[in-house]
Amino acid sequence: MPRKTEPGVQTQNSPLTQTQRAQFDRDGFLVLENYVRPELVGTLRDRMAALLAGFEPEEQQSAFIGNNEASDDGYFLESGSEIRYFLEPDARGPDGKLRRAKDLSMNKVGHALHRLDPIFERATELLEVCTLARQLGQREPLPLQSMYLFKQPRIGAPVALHQDATFLYTEPASVIGFWLALDDATEENGCLWALPGGHELGLKRRMRRVGAVETRMEILDPAPFPEAELRPLPVASGSLVVLHGLLPHLSQPNRSSQPRHAYSLHLIDGATHYPQDNWLQPLPQEKAS
Ligand code: FE2
Repeated sequence: MPRKTEPGVQTQNSPLTQTQRAQFDRDGFLVLENYVRPELVGTLRDRMAALLAGFEPEEQQSAFIGNNEASDDGYFLESGSEIRYFLEPDARGPDGKLRRAKDLSMNKVGHALHRLDPIFERATELLEVCTLARQLGQREPLPLQSMYLFKQPRIGAPVALHQDATFLYTEPASVIGFWLALDDATEENGCLWALPGGHELGLKRRMRRVGAVETRMEILDPAPFPEAELRPLPVASGSLVVLHGLLPHLSQPNRSSQPRHAYSLHLIDGATHYPQDNWLQPLPQEKAS
């Protein structure tokens, strides 16, 4: 299909300027406002609505438990090579039934949307994240993980302060996160918060897989982050936030009446070492162009 007929990014090849690359090196993050056209945002939202229409909540095994928790959940640990559905922690009532409609109960869907679903796969190409990752230093950009994040009105759970390299560990550290806003993300509905320059502080923790269905968290540096220096990153729908894998970041709960959908991708450098005891296994072999 000719590229110009598709609802892709705003600029061809999306080259980063020298100033933007310097900002990323200094701050550990970059905000690319109005990165995609509204049509692409609509395409992703519509596709997720269609996927959810085919999902039966009674089959659901997991509520998402937050980034800081060790997991003993096979449904989660096997999700790296699947498309799996995770509920908000408060989605079920005491009777075990969903309190609200399923499309208002989901926390996230992950972690192989970009490989297994043709619409998300094509959208991921249009985002040109591999081009961006190369410009930011990766030699062999490898899209490893994708998530559709819902952050539902009223019940959208927080994501605790973390570094992505804790979960997607390579030697040397190489992961870069790409976070596409599919709604306006505000302080009220749970936008990202980040610690500018915090990627220079080193990796604090690493999640290791210790069995088929179990992980544990290894503490590498117990010194806390200077959380008072966290700053919010509100962005409009269609903006792309790029996060260094060592950058400490979080998101607050959504106490507002507005949703805060986002599509998140994590790329590692395929030229680095990817340990066998990372939670996400196996490592997909294909390299992105
Ligand atoms: Fe993250």
